[in-house]
Amino acid sequence: MLQTQTQAHAFKNATRFHDDSSKFISQPIEMHHVNAIERTELEKIYRQSGGLTDNEIALEIKKYTPHFTRVIKNLLGNNAPCSLLISGLPVISNLTERLHINEKMSLAFAHLLGLPFQYLQQNEGKLVARISPHKDYENTQSGLSRAHFGWHTDDSIFSLNHRTEWIQLLGVINEGLTETLLSPIDDVVTQLSADVLHILMQHRFEVKMPTSFGFRHQIWSHPLPLIWRNEQDQCEVGVPTYHVRPSDQNDKEALTALNVFLAAIDACCYSVIIQPDTLFIFNNNRVLHGRTPVIGHRMILRTYIRRNLNALREITGNSTSIFDARFLI
Ligand SMILES: [Fe+2]
Repeated sequence: MLQTQTQAHAFKNATRFHDDSSKFISQPIEMHHVNAIERTELEKIYRQSGGLTDNEIALEIKKYTPHFTRVIKNLLGNNAPCSLLISGLPVISNLTERLHINEKMSLAFAHLLGLPFQYLQQNEGKLVARISPHKDYENTQSGLSRAHFGWHTDDSIFSLNHRTEWIQLLGVINEGLTETLLSPIDDVVTQLSADVLHILMQHRFEVKMPTSFGFRHQIWSHPLPLIWRNEQDQCEVGVPTYHVRPSDQNDKEALTALNVFLAAIDACCYSVIIQPDTLFIFNNNRVLHGRTPVIGHRMILRTYIRRNLNALREITGNSTSIFDARFLI
């Protein structure tokens, strides 16, 4: 059951409650279309961006487009939407120029929400990763393949304070209208029985290190749960569905629960298309994501964002924003 972008929009004001626990379910996708005044201001900022630092650009955005800024900052609140789709951003006609300006704007947008960071081993350790099909990754489950990319959250092998809180995607080109898929964990748990949910919340599973880190050895995690509750008592999720297994290979109950979970994720699918005018930000712990196959030329700019980088800086002994993942496993 694929729900289109229009259907997601129709879902915008829905406020629903779990049947069993009466916990508030966050909106899966908040939509914001940049209005004419905001676009005029943003166009000026885009044009000036070459001569400004990303922090200076962020200050300009806050000053001249306060509502746009508030829409992004809303992601920080309790009961924040799981994801935010902003459309109608300026699009530079020259593709090379667009790429460079959008890279700069990616960092500035990230600063409205938190701190951008990256792992040394990914995307050449650049803060803004260019995600586009790459021939060396054709047959992998990664953002660099062309094939359908299965459901996952990013870097769930790392502890929660070492993985990204938000994933920000800014469009550059999307010739084949590849869809980015989203499955909110609040929706998924409504599909699960109490018994299955209970098993998924136990330390009975292990996940594998993502291919994109390029480590030669296969690295599996210690036993962990795939779903848990955060300090606000909201459900959170961490799992690459193509790199997960019960920690005990004889644990048939865990395997059955895992298969029920995978079917429920599929049943709660939303879809958005990231065009050159689109900024999409989602909470890596509250939704699973994936995408349809890439046809033609597609590039998005991905930025990882955390509220703070304290734990990453402490464990790596590094005060910058690029961290060596070898310290994290
Ligand atoms: Fe991902």
